[in-house]
Amino acid sequence: SGIVPFRGENQAGIVTPAQDRLHFAVFDVQTRSRAELIELLKTWTLMAERMTTGREATPGGAVGAGAYTPPTDTGEALDLSASRLTLTIGFGPSLFTTPDGGDRFDISARKPKALVDLPKFTGDALEPARSGGDIAIQACADDPQVAVHAIRNLARVGFGVVSVRWSQLGFGRTSSTSTSQTTPRNLLGFKDGTRNIKAEDRDTVDKFVWVDRADDQPWMAGGSYLVTRRIRMLIEPWDRTSLHEQERVIGRTKGSGAPIGGRDEFDELDLQSKGPSGPLVDTDAHVRLASAEELGGIQILRRGYNFTDGSDGFGHLDAGLFFIAYCRNPQTQFVPMQNNLARNDALNEYIKHVGSAVFAVPPGLGPQDYWGSTLF
Ligand code: HEM
Repeated sequence: SGIVPFRGENQAGIVTPAQDRLHFAVFDVQTRSRAELIELLKTWTLMAERMTTGREATPGGAVGAGAYTPPTDTGEALDLSASRLTLTIGFGPSLFTTPDGGDRFDISARKPKALVDLPKFTGDALEPARSGGDIAIQACADDPQVAVHAIRNLARVGFGVVSVRWSQLGFGRTSSTSTSQTTPRNLLGFKDGTRNIKAEDRDTVDKFVWVDRADDQPWMAGGSYLVTRRIRMLIEPWDRTSLHEQERVIGRTKGSGAPIGGRDEFDELDLQSKGPSGPLVDTDAHVRLASAEELGGIQILRRGYNFTDGSDGFGHLDAGLFFIAYCRNPQTQFVPMQNNLARNDALNEYIKHVGSAVFAVPPGLGPQDYWGSTLF
């Protein structure tokens, strides 16, 4: 049917088989009124639920509200199907406490311990205009116009209460999150998502993705944490690198995606065996350094997208991976993993992290709930 249920135990858009397109938007809250913020979250929830079923954002909509008022839906999705649209909300650390310790919305006591700004990692070149923010909305769909329409309409009604801080379009998922999907490729040309957590593996998802009631703040039970990193790829140097070097850097072969030393994509990643010139999988290969074996068992759910935002004015493509990860605790999962990669990964020669953010993603919605109702 192309419709992903909006309500449920967990928010959609996390273990939902990754759709092809992304529009990710981050807002800063302008109002200081708790009531006004809650009112917007309620309005957003109604609109989001309608749009995920392929309906217009509001009753009346694009042409039904009369000729003499601005339409209450922008109209560009009128003839399009729901396209598996999911809308997922998250709350950033700055919503709970401002840098001077302020508590704008009377929620600082409910700030989860796990929700703090990420530390600075080696090599980070973060742009403030692409980082942080109070509220994130991730729109994923199989049709880019459906995802863009959803964000556009939510931003439109938010006018005066929130303002867009930054946003990112993504095309081409870079991960599979379900065993029903084939593994896509990222812009380095490698299959990406082979050893990702898959929705079907319920125990692993429970262990590494969903927050348990006992973990931290009870309002987060059934939620997760979202980490985004805008990772620019230094495409031109990469494209002048030999295939052998590319495969050494990743630790897998480019054609089949098989681990070095294996034949097929899903062959076991062999981190022990040695070849004539050292370990089969190099000591600084990306897949070794990111592996659970290397990190005391840690895993994360990856759900990123390719991006190309034209060129950068110096003749280089502004392209890369808009990395999205979901985890039960970013401090004990994403942070140690990224620390290891930032310090040692052979891939660092070809990438640069330019944006970063972290959000608490509340649990799914029951019939009467709105976005954030367990928090407020
Ligand atoms: C695996 C590419 C950034 C975590 C892989 C694979 C590729 C890849 C091709 C192998 C296929 C697979 O198992 O999915 C990239 C590129 C990146 C990037 C091009 C940046 C532009 C990151 C970051 C993290 C990360 C920032 C987390 C901090 C992982 C993990 C695996 C993986 C956990 C699976 C390792 C395993 O257990 O085999 N990546 N990656 N990657 N990557 Fe990345």
